[in-house]
Order: sequence, then C-alpha cells, then structure tokens
Amino acid sequence: MKTFRFRPAVEAMDGYVPGEQPKISNLIKINTNENPYPPAPGVYEAIRDFAAEKLRLYPQPTADMVRETIASLHRVTPDMVIAGNGSDDILNIAIRSFCGPELPLACFDPSYSLYPVLARMQEAPVVRIPLTAGFEMPSDAAEQAASANLLIVTRPNAPTGNAFPLAAVRRVIETFGGVVLVDEAYADFADDNCMGLVHEYDNLIVSRTMSKSYSLAGIRFGYAVAGRGLISGMMKIKDSYNVDMLTQYIVRAALSDQAYLNKTRSAILATRARLERELTKLGFSYVPSQTNFLFAVPPDNDGRRFFDVLRENAVIVRYFPGEVTGRHVRISIGTDAEIDKVLEIAAQLYG
Ligand SMILES: Cc1ncc(COP(=O)(O)O)c(C=O)c1O
Repeated sequence: MKTFRFRPAVEAMDGYVPGEQPKISNLIKINTNENPYPPAPGVYEAIRDFAAEKLRLYPQPTADMVRETIASLHRVTPDMVIAGNGSDDILNIAIRSFCGPELPLACFDPSYSLYPVLARMQEAPVVRIPLTAGFEMPSDAAEQAASANLLIVTRPNAPTGNAFPLAAVRRVIETFGGVVLVDEAYADFADDNCMGLVHEYDNLIVSRTMSKSYSLAGIRFGYAVAGRGLISGMMKIKDSYNVDMLTQYIVRAALSDQAYLNKTRSAILATRARLERELTKLGFSYVPSQTNFLFAVPPDNDGRRFFDVLRENAVIVRYFPGEVTGRHVRISIGTDAEIDKVLEIAAQLYG
C-alpha cells in the first residue's frame, strides 16, 4: 500500500460543515437562508434560449458580460468588479490574496464559520474578535485586528442578522491598517449597505452573492466590488474559468430584473416582520434582523429543544451550539405558509 501525506495544515484542520441539504422533499427547509421564491422569469428564458452547443467552448474567463451589468447596477466601472463561483469563491480569492503564515486574517465571533477554515488552508493565523453581548462590534475592533492583513466585517452579520452601524464600519475601515472586506451576502434585505464606500476607500472590498436575494443558490455566483488596484491583484489568484457559461447568462438575466428583486424582497420583509411580531407574543426574543433570517431565542432559552421539536415536525432550521449561540435558533424566512407552520409548533410548545 502506498503511503500518502497531506500538508500538516490540512491534516490539522477541520473542514467546513455546510448546513444540511436533505434529499427528502416534504420537509420545510428553512436552514440555509435560501430564498423561498423562484428566480426571476428572465432566468427561465435565459436557460430555455441557451444554445447547448456553445458548451463546447470555455466560458469568457473574466465573465465580462456580467461584470458590465454589475458595474452599471452599482455605478462603478467593470474593472472594479470580480466575479466568482459563489461568494465563497470570492472570500477564498481574497484570503488567498491577502493572508498567509505571516499575514493573519481577522474576523468577528460569532460570524460566518467558513472564514477561519479558508484561512487555515493558507496557514494563516486567525484573530477572532468577540462581538459584544448584544452582537455588536466592539469599539476597539480595528485595534484588536491590528496584527491582521485582512479584516472581514459581515454586514449584516450571520448568524445573528444585525447590521453594525454604518458609522462604526467606516471608522474601522479608516483606522485598520490592512484590507477590509465587507461581506454583504444579505445586504439586499438591509436598510443600507457599504457599496458606495468603494469610491472613498482604496482598502475596501464589498462582496455580494446571488444565492439569497436573487434565488440563485443553485448556480453559484458571487462578486466583489473594490478599487482597481485590489481587483487586478485578486484577478491573478482566481481560477481561469471560475464562472461557467450558462451561469453568466442566467446572472445577467436575474440582475436585469430589479423590479422582481424588489417584489420578492418586499414579500420576505413582510413575512419577517410578521414572524418577529408573532414570536414576541409567544415570549421569544430575537436579534433585530436586517436579513432573510431571524436569530430567535425561545422563552426557555433552549434553542436545541426548539430545533429538535421543529425537526420532529419536518421543519429544518439551523442550530449553532455554544453558550450564547445555543440559546437561539436561526430561522430562514420562508413562504408565509412555511412560517405559519413554525408559529403553529411554537404556539403548541410555548403558548
Ligand atoms: C455571510 C455569508 N457570506 C457568504 C455566504 C456564501 O454565499 P454563496 O452562496 O454566494 O457562496 C453565506 C452563505 O450562507 C453567508 O452567510
């Protein structure tokens, strides 16, 4: 038998554990913040009209057609945009660009648990900055991150759902000595965002995904916007053909229908407000959400129990073990009927 060895860093690390993707279709799946509504009608047309014989050829390597659409949406130039195979790919490109054994990554805790995993792959130390008891950024965040070369600010944050005050994020960008990546995976559900700041700060990268607000988790597309200097360096790191051809057509169609985005967003925000109201009546507390999910605490502070009972009733939400996070469950905002089912189970348990 041949012997083989992984790199010590790979040997030592745990892989990222994605939220469960069950095969059984009669479950209410509100565990990974997917959109309960279908993609825009133009997406169906783009798929129908796509000429499969074109798949013989490689896709355009930098997804220029899509970069142009994104650039006009955000009023930047195409050379300020990089496209990725989901925003996970963008995060990986950023961490490979800016982090290594001597160049730590800083991120908040709790936040998206993929960041430390990506850093470990690059043998980069991770500076974890604890959020306050109310899940806000500590006022000395930039100082705590000082040894890092890249700081990721997740705004709105996951799994908590709150958006740190814009002024505080500005201060961090101005004070921190390295690159700041604001992960805006959920920004379409928030009151404001940092996209406009890319014109002001040359150390700022803003990343977005099409997985949530555009109902396109299945095709994997994300992007980042930043000054030309940052984007051209990150372009060196990305896989040559990191966005496939069909995805480029689908993404262009989805981005072109902002009216549809607004419609589904309004529906999700209305359902979110109703869920907040009804859970409050049952004695729950929650983190005020700027996203398509709610991080809620049941009246007995036992997130695990509520998670288990929902599951016994074929409803899958997300549970994050831990002293503070373990009091909560994270409920993705589904359709009204799906959220009714959550409320019905909650009323039986706590009503
Ligand atoms: C904060 C945050 N960033 C990025 C992502 C990844 O999104 P994508 O599907 O574009 O890889 C997620 C997905 O859950 C997320 O919660």
